[in-house]
Amino acid sequence: MAVVDLGEFGADFTADPYPYYAKLREAGPVHLVHTAEGGRLWLIVGHEEARAALADPRLSKSPATVGATMLDERVVGPYLLVLDPPDHTRLRKLVAREFTARRVEELRPRIQRITDGLLDALPAHGRADLVEALAFPLPLTVICELLGVPALDRAAFRRWSNDVVAPTSAEAERTAVTELAAYLDDLIEDKRCSGPADDLLSALIRTRAEDGDRLSAAELRALAYLLLVAGHETTVNLIANGVRALLTHAAQLAALRADFGLLDGAVEEMLRYDGPVETGTARFSREPVPVGGTVIPAGEAVLVGIAAGNRDPARHPAPDRFDIRRPPQGHLAFGHGLHYCLGAPLARLEGRIAVRTLLERCPELALDPDGGPLDWLPGMLIRGVRRLPVRW
Ligand code: HEM
Repeated sequence: MAVVDLGEFGADFTADPYPYYAKLREAGPVHLVHTAEGGRLWLIVGHEEARAALADPRLSKSPATVGATMLDERVVGPYLLVLDPPDHTRLRKLVAREFTARRVEELRPRIQRITDGLLDALPAHGRADLVEALAFPLPLTVICELLGVPALDRAAFRRWSNDVVAPTSAEAERTAVTELAAYLDDLIEDKRCSGPADDLLSALIRTRAEDGDRLSAAELRALAYLLLVAGHETTVNLIANGVRALLTHAAQLAALRADFGLLDGAVEEMLRYDGPVETGTARFSREPVPVGGTVIPAGEAVLVGIAAGNRDPARHPAPDRFDIRRPPQGHLAFGHGLHYCLGAPLARLEGRIAVRTLLERCPELALDPDGGPLDWLPGMLIRGVRRLPVRW
């Protein structure tokens, strides 16, 4: 099979990968590709095939399947996205109850207050970077409060976190992962010494102290790592990509402003149309896996194209149209199967509160035409911009 060199598509592919995914999809639902970063892997671009692959036990999440390990797995510890059952099941159970729709709904008043506080602080001159002002601090504050992370150095954390999910170089990734691991060690030690507290990290530390069999020290650190990084890096881009979609589709924006009953559907459409996770995290074939007439051999790395699947016309008619009244039709933005996003109820709640409150507070909200070109995060995992200049 011919190998597609994604690197040849250049910066256009990062800024707007959808036309490229459409071309690939027309040629078939799965392709052997070279990524811009030099990796060789299989990329699934059809909706049905992507959905099936996300839940296929023949595709392991453990890099050990192909004799490899991930950098962050080595430095921080084994986290949910590099584990298969039974370890995955045991660890997910320890935190899953904290993220049910009912538990998350209890956070609504607090999320509203944090959002209000951030919007109160918008500068009077009517221009700001929406990422800096709202999209980044809202989910970070929420996940830090949930975990019990005190006064975090936000600028350092944002750098680490960006370099973990969208590294600008292998060196930057190594530095970020190492510094984040050291930070988490200090944090866990401080919390252990400062006595019982009513937060998730303290609860996990108690589980470890009382029943180390269920949670090793490295697993505890890796859980904190994944929740902190996954708990905000994605939601930042739900808010920023979603608001950008609204501000570039005037009729959709007007419809939502006229009827906030459309809000939940609008957020689902934001997730489908330009969601934060472009491809799932890596999977590895344990055995030959047929995908739409092509067989992925055993021992290969596989990426599931979430953004590509979400624009598949076989599933979503006129997929490139942003339409907040589109019937909710099972997009793949939160994944599918055993690794389905643990934080989906929290992300949805934050997204709905952020978008609604922003539109209510800023009736003239628009993209800032003097804001300069958009700077897209590199790589294929996370889709988002570093800054979104707006005015109101
Ligand atoms: C709009 C925001 C979000 C999106 C689009 C998103 C998307 C995803 C996706 C696609 C996966 C599956 C990846 C795969 O199978 O390779 C995932 C897993 C995960 N997400 Fe999210 N996520 C979001 C917000 C959050 C939040 C707020 C949290 C934190 C509480 C979170 C925690 C997790 C965790 C822990 C996993 C791993 C689950 C497992 O392996 O069992 N996510 N997310």
